[in-house]
Amino acid sequence: MREAIELAQRGMGFVSPNPMVGAVIVRDGEVIGRGYHKKYGDLHAERAAFADCEARGVDCSGAEMYVTLEPCCHHGKQPPCTEAIIGHGIKCVYVGSSDPNPLVAGKGVQELRDNGIEVVEGVLKDECDAINEIFFKFITKHLPFVTMKYAMSMDGKIACRTGESKWITGEEARLNVQRDRLRHAAIMVGVGTVLKDDPMLTCRLEGGRNAIRVVCDSSLRTPLTSNVVCTAKTVPTIIATLESDVAVTQPYIDMGCTILSMRGKNGRPDLRQLMKTLSSLGIDSVLLEGGGELNWSALESGIVDKVQTYIAPKIIGGVGAKSPVAGLGADKPDNGFMLEPVAVRHFGEDILIESRVKYVHGNN
Ligand SMILES: NC(=O)c1ccc[n+]([C@@H]2O[C@H](COP(=O)([O-])OP(=O)(O)OC[C@H]3O[C@@H](n4cnc5c(N)ncnc54)[C@H](OP(=O)(O)O)[C@@H]3O)[C@@H](O)[C@H]2O)c1
Repeated sequence: MREAIELAQRGMGFVSPNPMVGAVIVRDGEVIGRGYHKKYGDLHAERAAFADCEARGVDCSGAEMYVTLEPCCHHGKQPPCTEAIIGHGIKCVYVGSSDPNPLVAGKGVQELRDNGIEVVEGVLKDECDAINEIFFKFITKHLPFVTMKYAMSMDGKIACRTGESKWITGEEARLNVQRDRLRHAAIMVGVGTVLKDDPMLTCRLEGGRNAIRVVCDSSLRTPLTSNVVCTAKTVPTIIATLESDVAVTQPYIDMGCTILSMRGKNGRPDLRQLMKTLSSLGIDSVLLEGGGELNWSALESGIVDKVQTYIAPKIIGGVGAKSPVAGLGADKPDNGFMLEPVAVRHFGEDILIESRVKYVHGNN
């Protein structure tokens, strides 16, 4: 199953909004076939593993399969994987995650059992679930999975008093951010970050793909000369705004941007509404790389699933230097947003803490 998980992750960035899935076929303790879902619309992992056996003339009847996600039993872009498993005479299937997709949800496993195949569920379940947290939210709630990410110094600053923030963390941490850009369908910032940093927000990994860029900008202050606007014809760029005057929006559209004229909440684009709109465009995940203003609004509107805090071993200081979450802020410690620590990882000298947000009113 560990090998199947490793295979599944090779599809990162290319299978969205499908799940990442890996499959391994084993006979007498030896791997005889491997497959994974390579890109949206392509063969599912199970069929890719059968194709691998066939390509090498290996007979897999009577063998066992390890698959990270419950096999599908419905016709989508591909025929059901259960049919292929039954047709190839697999005798036992080890499954990692159950599929919460209502079209599958236990039916895949049941169909295999009904056809005399032994099924063992929950093998390395936590590890398998972790690779598809985006898919699980999108398929059950029809909303993008939102990861709020920021890099700060040990005294909690995301930029210096000058606004300069390149770079807080080292190369290894920044490389991991690049991998997360690949994992997410969209990257979102506020206009404050565009004005200060003029970022590209592209994926710099070799063979990677760019996420859709989303800028929250109430009154279209994004400069027409900014990097995000100037490259909008090659890297999709959405600007969520309250502005709807065509005379103002048309120059951005001419430059290749998509303008989402939104309903306002407290004089700014309503982020819950924005998530629904992004979901309707097939965007299953958002990496929120904003500054403190947008981060606070995102937490307050209940859209954030996970927080990634990179901490660099340096102290920046400065009474006016920004911190990762601004806005109004909580009135007392008990009213802060509670996080459940999930994992602590090290990247060079920097630390990454990943936590889930525990919304008390279940408004997420
Ligand atoms: N170290 C890091 O990880 C990191 C990451 C990002 C940024 N930064 C730094 O953070 C600084 C910028 O901070 P910032 O807080 O100004 O940036 P921001 O959060 O990216 O942008 C804030 C602006 O976004 C606009 N906005 C649009 N819709 C919004 C909504 N629903 N809620 C909140 N804001 C909304 C608001 O302006 P309008 O109302 O005019 O639209 C607001 O002033 C820069 O110095 C940058 O270098 C650091």
